[in-house]
Amino acid sequence: MRIEALARFRLAQLPTPIEELKSLSRELGGPELLIKRDDQTGLALGGNKTRKLEFLVGQALEQGADTLVTVGAAQSNHCRQTAAAAARAGLRCELLLNGIKPELPNGNLLLDELLGARIHWVQRSEREVKLSEILAELRKQGGKPYVIPVGGSNGVGATGYVLAMMELAEQLNRLNQRVDHVVFASSSGGTQAGLVVGAKVTGFDTKLHGVRIDKDDEGAIYERELAEIANETAKYIDFDAQFTAKDFNVEYDYLGYGYGVVGDLEREAIRLLASREGIVADPVYTGRAMGALLDLIRKKVFRSGETVLFWHTGGAPALFAYAEDLV
Ligand SMILES: Cc1ncc(COP(=O)(O)O)c(C=O)c1O
Repeated sequence: MRIEALARFRLAQLPTPIEELKSLSRELGGPELLIKRDDQTGLALGGNKTRKLEFLVGQALEQGADTLVTVGAAQSNHCRQTAAAAARAGLRCELLLNGIKPELPNGNLLLDELLGARIHWVQRSEREVKLSEILAELRKQGGKPYVIPVGGSNGVGATGYVLAMMELAEQLNRLNQRVDHVVFASSSGGTQAGLVVGAKVTGFDTKLHGVRIDKDDEGAIYERELAEIANETAKYIDFDAQFTAKDFNVEYDYLGYGYGVVGDLEREAIRLLASREGIVADPVYTGRAMGALLDLIRKKVFRSGETVLFWHTGGAPALFAYAEDLV
């Protein structure tokens, strides 16, 4: 394995803390609950993309790039953190966001603008064509763009979550604390793929539950995509292991009405975590994943005496764009 030798641009405040969710656990009569605070990674309001971007920006700088280019939803946390990473690394940033420009930028979008990104609004179906045009234009002007895939989820980005798992294993070891289950939001896959590779690297024996956030495209099998990213990651870090779809545990019961649609599950979870623990989840990812955790506890999926860790992956800036759905 050669993680130490990989190009890396430091962006995150690490290690992120682990805290106990005592009030929530007591109220639910549930298992012992811990939370890993990757909402506190420190880059422009934090989140899971900071860890991925350390390796993506590292590679971009190594290749002599001058511009980061990426794509996402209008309220993409990944795009906001990419814009911040570009600012920190002295790079330009071009974002292709789905949809049409709103009258007033809010939430992550406001931050994208403040962070100096150039924003292009595109229809989702036309995104690839527009991306090629923008790259061609940048190259024609003598620029050297570096393209980051949706959510930073390739082998390079997921390497950040291999290290995150190593960080967790070390923290738990020091605390002499066992964790039986880890629950987190899973969307473009880099987080889950990296965690699974990291669990293999460390021999960390815990059940990882990725809570699926988006409905899959027809014919697509998410576990296969996860295995592809995990294999790419293993190759990138030179770790001799092969992953298949069977290595991934995905919870599919919490898709609601689809990506970014806030329902009772998310509303209750966000309010409960905020009002009992003073911790803010987001409407799209961590609100849904926390809602899934509450449901799994109520269905008694976890045995008494077990410990469950919720991996908070950030996203709170999007709350401000979802105010109408939350009050
Ligand atoms: C706050 C938050 N949590 C979780 C995720 C999911 O992570 P991944 O895309 O690596 O599956 C995202 C991705 O956009 C996110 O913004």
